[in-house]
Amino acid sequence: MIKAKYLTKITDINKLYLEQIINEGDIVVDATMGNGYDTKYLAEKVGESGFVYSFDIQEEAIKSTRKKLEKENLQERVKLILDGHENIDNYIEKKISCVVFNLGYLPRAQHMIITKPNTTIKAIEHSLKLLKPHGVVSISIYTGHPGGLDEKNSVYDFVKNLDQREFNVLECGFVNQVNNPPQLVLIEKKKEY
Ligand SMILES: C[S@@+](CC[C@H](N)C(=O)[O-])C[C@H]1O[C@@H](n2cnc3c(N)ncnc32)[C@H](O)[C@@H]1O
Repeated sequence: MIKAKYLTKITDINKLYLEQIINEGDIVVDATMGNGYDTKYLAEKVGESGFVYSFDIQEEAIKSTRKKLEKENLQERVKLILDGHENIDNYIEKKISCVVFNLGYLPRAQHMIITKPNTTIKAIEHSLKLLKPHGVVSISIYTGHPGGLDEKNSVYDFVKNLDQREFNVLECGFVNQVNNPPQLVLIEKKKEY
């Protein structure tokens, strides 16, 4: 069980929710693989009987994540996909319980390769269709880099308009932090329509 000792990291706060949502045997998605921290966490959470699909458009992300997974012998329960998350529906047919987005750029890599509003929204739309009832899409949003604020505004425009009969949408943020604190948005699918 992850404990957010201090309320400083949006990724830790996210995990407080994910702990309640993800069970052993689940099929889940890391929509933004990056250096594989979230993929590894998800692979541990779903256990041997579960499965993780993980997406990134950078070869570098695949290499770094593969290495991380092999070190822990978790590679058999993860499919690393070199493609945009907007194409998620080409790879997954079964119902899934969680999709994790960690938007922005790959730390230490080229900062011009960032997630973008159009593809992010497309991927969220597809993800919501793939979710099983009470499944959750989790989106960590950063606005400190060029393009980040536009992306945040697009995500908020989209989630604000989701029908509350179908989805619960929660936002978490640091209201007194300077320098563009991140936001966390969680979308729960209430039932299948
Ligand atoms: C903030 S990083 C993710 C960090 C990662 N979750 C981790 O645990 O290290 C964002 C990642 O999204 C990737 N990305 C950008 N556009 C994408 C797209 N259309 N589909 C999938 N990944 C994308 C970037 O290449 C980058 O690696």
